[in-house]
Amino acid sequence: MKFLVISGPNLNLLGKREPEIYGAETLDDIILKTKAGAEKLEVEVDFFQSNHEGEIIDEIHKAMGSYDAIIINPGAYTHYSIAIRDAIKSVEIPTIEIHLSNINAREEFRSKSVIAPVCIGQISGFGADSYILGLHAAILAGKR
Ligand code: DQA
Repeated sequence: MKFLVISGPNLNLLGKREPEIYGAETLDDIILKTKAGAEKLEVEVDFFQSNHEGEIIDEIHKAMGSYDAIIINPGAYTHYSIAIRDAIKSVEIPTIEIHLSNINAREEFRSKSVIAPVCIGQISGFGADSYILGLHAAILAGKR
């Protein structure tokens, strides 16, 4: 199984950005951990991060035919990007939405995800482990 892990805007600043909410680990730390998790689980994993909506959409389109699942942390795009939602729906690749923080326990605007309805499900609130849980969810979904 081969998965694409996409991280959206501002996640390149992890480690520096609001560490009390997002933790002290950098995105590179999280990628290393997730790669190690993927090895144990015997799945292949590629990573992509962008601060730009169009680049994320292009990457989702390119994933067609190459990946069994997408694991996406859309960052703030979670709450309003109909374009990313439509891209996920269009490519028909099983997708899992992940968040470091518990988006339901924060500002009210964060509890609304426009992405979640086109995903298999959502993982939210487990810090860096949300990425590993995303792998587990993608594997389980692939076996259904
Ligand atoms: C986030 C939650 C979003 O609301 C926020 O805009 C982010 C990060 C998370 O991983 O907890 O950028 O997706």
